[in-house]
Amino acid sequence: MGATYQGVGFSNIALIKYMGKKSSKLNQALNVSLSYTLDHLQTHVLLEDSPTDADIYNLKPDGPDSESLGPEASLKFSRFVEVLKKEFQLESQFFKISSVNNFPSDCGLASSASSLMALTEALHEKYKAQHQKEIPHLDRALLSRQGSGSSCRSFFKPFSIWDGDQVTAVNLPVELLHMVIVVDKKPKAVSSTQAHQRVQSSLLLKDREQRARMRMGQLIGALQSDWKKAFEICWAEFWDMHGLFETSMPPFGYLGAESLKVLEELRQSWELNQDGPLVTMDAGPNIHLLFRSDQKELWNQNLQLWKSRYECHHS
Ligand code: PMV
Repeated sequence: MGATYQGVGFSNIALIKYMGKKSSKLNQALNVSLSYTLDHLQTHVLLEDSPTDADIYNLKPDGPDSESLGPEASLKFSRFVEVLKKEFQLESQFFKISSVNNFPSDCGLASSASSLMALTEALHEKYKAQHQKEIPHLDRALLSRQGSGSSCRSFFKPFSIWDGDQVTAVNLPVELLHMVIVVDKKPKAVSSTQAHQRVQSSLLLKDREQRARMRMGQLIGALQSDWKKAFEICWAEFWDMHGLFETSMPPFGYLGAESLKVLEELRQSWELNQDGPLVTMDAGPNIHLLFRSDQKELWNQNLQLWKSRYECHHS
């Protein structure tokens, strides 16, 4: 058997969202974003030489026994293999590529960020072995951005800021515990690539860049000193993104009755206790909760509650 090369990628959850692009080719974001890297939601990519003159794919979006990845996501993956081969001077070679997520894909858990990071890292391992040199970490992150914009943030932790061509790790004095409530894991009807295009028709996109930058500054301050304010900023921010979706022409959206029910319960619990987790959502129906490490007991109570009703993935 020939040599094998491995790459691991992580998901991330944006607290300040990336939505809308300045340029689609390089996935240049319209606005600054801030995320938290979810290193328990992973993709593992394994690369081997192909026995034929064609690439062979085995893409498993939700564990090794899951169905194969859907056609749109598979195409995004295989197109990005071509980009990476060119970048890493591996154009004349063919590979057998296996990719497995340990969480459901295509439903708002940033699986493309983690899978395209893992793919970049696996092909980079091959490049290193073949060319005896390395591509710097930031350059690999920006390369991965071409496959999925948000994947560039997954290269940095615990927090990551992506601002133009800069992606940096940010250390804030708060450790977080994560949980995602999977209310629906059907592949979403509008992919994030389509969402980035469709929000161009929303009048609310006009001031989005300034709004995101202002909120990011406020959030960084609040995460260090005012948790309730941090919750309010995160809440306003995910509704802002979902507002862009619903004010596009024609409108589209990801929130069903079940998501709204959970959100309502979380808001009521905050009102009652004046405390709780940060709540946020990606472009999907599922709900992410982030707790401070000293809220471990509350995290546990929430886990018991939500686990009894929905599938949950947690740190
Ligand atoms: O990474 P992309 O190009 O698929 O864009 C996804 C962006 C969101 O996940 C919807 C928001 C974000 O900032 O992560």
